[in-house]
Amino acid sequence: MSLIDDLQAQLKQVHTDGAAALVSAEANIGTFIDHFKQHTLQYPEPVFAVLRQVKPVLIVKNTAIITRFADVQEVLSRDDVFQVTYKEKMEVVTGGKNFFLGMQNGPDYERDVANMRSVMRRDDVAKWVVPFVAKTAEACVASSNGSLDVAVQLGRAVPAKWVAAYFGCPPPTDQELVDWGTAIFQFLFCDLKNDPTCGATARAASVKACAWLDDTIAKRKADPNNKTDDVLGRCLELQKANVPGMDDLGIRNNLIGLLTGAIPTTAKCCAQALDELLKRPAELEKAQQAARANDDALFSQYVFEALRFNPNNPGVFRIAAEDYVVARDSAHATLIPKGTSVLASTQSAMFDERFVDAPNEFRVGRPEYMSMMWGYGIHTCFGQYINRVQIPGVLKPLLRRRNLRRAPGDAGQLGYSGPFPTRLGVEFEVAASASAS
Ligand code: HEM
Repeated sequence: MSLIDDLQAQLKQVHTDGAAALVSAEANIGTFIDHFKQHTLQYPEPVFAVLRQVKPVLIVKNTAIITRFADVQEVLSRDDVFQVTYKEKMEVVTGGKNFFLGMQNGPDYERDVANMRSVMRRDDVAKWVVPFVAKTAEACVASSNGSLDVAVQLGRAVPAKWVAAYFGCPPPTDQELVDWGTAIFQFLFCDLKNDPTCGATARAASVKACAWLDDTIAKRKADPNNKTDDVLGRCLELQKANVPGMDDLGIRNNLIGLLTGAIPTTAKCCAQALDELLKRPAELEKAQQAARANDDALFSQYVFEALRFNPNNPGVFRIAAEDYVVARDSAHATLIPKGTSVLASTQSAMFDERFVDAPNEFRVGRPEYMSMMWGYGIHTCFGQYINRVQIPGVLKPLLRRRNLRRAPGDAGQLGYSGPFPTRLGVEFEVAASASAS
């Protein structure tokens, strides 16, 4: 029986049983509202859909919510006006230094992004990321005995191993690396109410992560015979050449920022994309056919169309550095006063019927420019080209298996701890993998 059915039954009972039933029904209404809020936070699109029609730019209590595609792109392309808000918290987790996602466009931003792009190269994606992810994900699935938790045993495990190997920074355990990245991410990007527990957990995690990276950097430098060509090795080559921003502290902070951005996001996207496919058996079947046929381009279209229905984040926050009128030439032109906190809802934009044909339909082959899963404008995700192969790459070995289905009961339902999926059990035929390859 659903919560609503249960609630209706209890309300009926109030007529016959009086006060006692009323107390119980009230308690249930409280639970219902809690569930409703939770559900709306997790699946806000129905609310965004109403806003896009009736109030595309809504300002409530010093926060503006931007819901239409064109307006979201306008806000995120005016990075001088709508500025990033992460600096203060970034400094907490990096021992007083900012990380480039917390910086405005300027020399420090360009220096750090340029340095990190030169050590995490575009051609590494095909040469390095694709085969590593394929091998690691296949090993997880093959060793699973036909049942695994996608959120934990696959979605977290593969990016943790990938980061450790590609960065050249083996953690004490993969679990610790996941926990550090997750705690820091939650504090930086999801802790809008500045919950003291969340802050304390992130501080503790960052102290451990900084110590581990300091130690890793020191050990690598103490071993001049180690010429491994990985991200840390390349950072140290820049350091030898006296490239600004690449002292030990600079290297450490860039690596902390990157691993924080890389692990919990990938894990979340893998779980949520698969959950959306599992809700749609016909699409799941086609995605599985593409995976088995090694049609990677088509397979990733299924994965990313699924993710559009439940993306990593509903949008990105900015703060208005000056008064600004959004959508100036339109009927919904709205003044955003200086100091307003602004949620540019990339999720809502990806369902804006003005730009996206039949947005509520699951369709593969939508143009790339309609996707804002990785943000938009100057701070567009640094890892976007990695994500495009890593998320499908993690899921592909699983989707090649026959009889893929949710695990029975709660285990097979997507479960969360705060913003992060912690449960999505599936079952499948391990043996069928041989014929699938
Ligand atoms: C897999 C899922 C991922 C998602 C959904 C995601 C999402 C995003 C989003 C929405 C932004 C923009 C933030 C803003 O504008 O405020 C962003 C920025 C960023 N992401 Fe990702 N990300 C993912 C993976 C990664 C990976 C694998 C890395 C590192 C290898 C990474 C590193 C970064 C960095 C460094 C930035 C800041 C870029 C800048 O300031 O120029 N992300 N990401």
